[in-house]
Amino acid sequence: MKILLAGGAGFIGSHTCIELTKAGYDVVIADNFSNSKPEVLNRINQLTGKEIPFYQIDVADKAALDGLFTQENIDAVIHFAGYKAVGESVEKPLMYYKNNMDSTFSLIEVMEKHGVSNLVFSSSATVYGIPKTVPLIEGMDTGCTNPYGWTKLMNEQILTDCAKANSSLSIVLLRYFNPIGAHPSGRIGEDPNGIPNNLLPYITQVAAGKLKKLGVFGNDYDTPDGTGVRDYIHVVDLAKGHVAAIDYADKHKGTEIFNLGTGVGYSVLDIVNAFEKSNNIKIPYEIKPRRSGDIATCYADPAKAFNVLGWKAEKNLDDMCKDAWNWQSNNLKGYDV
Ligand code: UFG
Repeated sequence: MKILLAGGAGFIGSHTCIELTKAGYDVVIADNFSNSKPEVLNRINQLTGKEIPFYQIDVADKAALDGLFTQENIDAVIHFAGYKAVGESVEKPLMYYKNNMDSTFSLIEVMEKHGVSNLVFSSSATVYGIPKTVPLIEGMDTGCTNPYGWTKLMNEQILTDCAKANSSLSIVLLRYFNPIGAHPSGRIGEDPNGIPNNLLPYITQVAAGKLKKLGVFGNDYDTPDGTGVRDYIHVVDLAKGHVAAIDYADKHKGTEIFNLGTGVGYSVLDIVNAFEKSNNIKIPYEIKPRRSGDIATCYADPAKAFNVLGWKAEKNLDDMCKDAWNWQSNNLKGYDV
């Protein structure tokens, strides 16, 4: 079975490529390197021992995508392609709506043209908006606080409607919580453009001496230590969730939503302490004002993914912190060699 990874050269796509290959799937990657680097492909080929077919295209480009589908015998698609910086989406909403929706339109149209029915979509816990209660369950209310989040929720709606109209479609919507860590080999990992927005890449760059100190965004939230609580999940566990989702999509029709998280929430200071302990490195930090749009607490109820997909996260916070640092310390410039 051959799986197209749209946006497959990114952080989650690259790890999913490894896990799918290990599970015996053939994989094809399409990416325009808007937030990834060509070097990741060499690393993937080394780790898998295979030459993974690659197409440097924008998946919103329907003609290019059609060419790919004509060339390759694709059985299913995982759609990772999209911009993902929350703050940037507030400043450039049209750019986000255009990019993140157009890629889905062309993927679905080209899939239908070529008789491909199975699609796994990278959604996000951000679609729960400001949670009324935690843990978050798939059937709970949704609503977003920024354009990035809306693109995820709108994509979920569009794909759900497409599956209602075309009974041969099988759509799996995966709501990711906070993916961190890296492949245990230290060969692939997260390589953000510029100054990182997210907590773990920021911490690893402080540890590497590239940034002076971490700013902790708020210590007056209604949480045990006042800092924000999130459900951090090892990216390899997350990648394995995609393998389970592809399997599921092959055996079912219609739309299904799954949280991919651990079910455990850690605060920003929990993460700083765990990172220091796992790697024996001090992370200087200072308390800063709250970041606009942040919520106090967000963590998953991952029971549905376990009951239906047979998937659950296996790795702990120590694995996440060690693997994140192993990647960063061995690749101080990320994929720039
Ligand atoms: N944080 C800091 N300092 C930093 C960066 C983050 O204190 O320099 C804090 C945040 O305030 C938050 C926590 O660390 O409490 C996690 O922040 P991240 O930016 O790492 O992650 P978010 O939870 O804000 O966002 C992530 C993804 C989004 C996704 C969301 C879903 O980046 O794409 O999870 O819940 F939408």
